[in-house]
Amino acid sequence: MHIISSPNAIAVEALSHSYTSGNTSTRILSDLSFHVDAGQTVALIGRSGSGKSTLLNLISGLEPIVDGEVNIGGRPLSGLSDSQRTRLRGTQIGFIYQAFNLIPTLSVGDNIALPLALANVELKEQKSRLATLLEAIGLSDRGNDFPDQLSGGEQQRVAIARALIHRPALILADEPTGNLDALSGRMVLNLLTELVSEQQSALLLVTHSNEVASVADEVLLLEQGNISTLNKQELGASAAW
Ligand SMILES: Nc1ncnc2c1ncn2[C@@H]1O[C@H](COP(=O)(O)OP(=O)(O)OP(=O)(O)O)[C@@H](O)[C@H]1O
Ligand SMILES: [Mg+2]
Repeated sequence: MHIISSPNAIAVEALSHSYTSGNTSTRILSDLSFHVDAGQTVALIGRSGSGKSTLLNLISGLEPIVDGEVNIGGRPLSGLSDSQRTRLRGTQIGFIYQAFNLIPTLSVGDNIALPLALANVELKEQKSRLATLLEAIGLSDRGNDFPDQLSGGEQQRVAIARALIHRPALILADEPTGNLDALSGRMVLNLLTELVSEQQSALLLVTHSNEVASVADEVLLLEQGNISTLNKQELGASAAW
């Protein structure tokens, strides 16, 4: 049987990024290239301030690319207009933000179901997906509450459910277990990795935890603007990032 290879879920090519403040330009990312395939979990580690969130913002199209290229499912982001990038993000990408970004005026259930507004999914199916996800994150009885009635860890789980409900091809997760106790962290990690294998999504996961990174197929270290691949032994030998 001849198998046609599908494009990488994410392909980053010679990507650089600087922030400018006054006359000073600080280079954060320097000529990065790597890819993540469908069905693959890649962990991204690196010290605070090394540029992990910046990289996710560029990959998701939130931050415009000025130097290099990011391809999502084979489509170059730099060729897309703002509205095309927004649509791509809304349909193909599930983004779990470091700061949750829940909408305070919407209930937990409405926050989670928000990405389905862009997707062509029947109401019955929407309700069933919502119920399944609420149960998976252990918040079945909190669907009608509002974000400010939830603890930080509970809000983080809602943000995770919201990133998964439209079954995106690509999940970008910025420290998704950062505010969770060990048990909730494992629950969330299982939910993410199960989804990756069931739906053949690609998962790029920023973490400071070696335990979390060790479940990934590959571990990338971002250091002084450069990316290197760590093997499991190097990961075990390093301090927590
Ligand atoms: N909008 C911005 N303007 C100027 N500098 C910025 C901006 N956003 C981030 N930076 C700087 O870029 C660097 C990388 O920030 P980034 O948020 O990507 O780090 P990070 O690796 O995600 O860190 P953490 O682990 O603390 O979340 C930091 O020095 C930060 O101060
Ligand atoms: Mg960050």
